[in-house]
Amino acid sequence: MSDLAAHLDGPCDNAALLVSLEALHDYADWHFTFEERLLERAKYPWQIDHVAEHRAIIDQINTLRDKLATGNVDMKRLIPVISHWIVDHVNNEDMRAVKYIEDVQTGTTQVKHRPKEGSLLL
Ligand SMILES: [Fe+2]
Repeated sequence: MSDLAAHLDGPCDNAALLVSLEALHDYADWHFTFEERLLERAKYPWQIDHVAEHRAIIDQINTLRDKLATGNVDMKRLIPVISHWIVDHVNNEDMRAVKYIEDVQTGTTQVKHRPKEGSLLL
């Protein structure tokens, strides 16, 4: 993500942006796969919604990558949007899942960790 943000200060180099976007895609895909294994192992009750949000983020990255490849996008406008989207997911949905998994491990699981309605990025 910091590689992408670095492009915002200077002139827009689409080739370099494309490399950074590919790196973000690969990292996100690897990270989400790892995280989804943890959710499955913990029998996380809201796993379907959480995984759907992962897929939506990957789809958004792919859309940006495709638009960038055709030169049909203003990346300086869109990179902050996707950055915010990923940070929001980590700060909200991932932290909620981490708390649930911790509670499972300590035997204190409660329904209070259920995501709020409309909090998912679909
Ligand atoms: Fe996640």
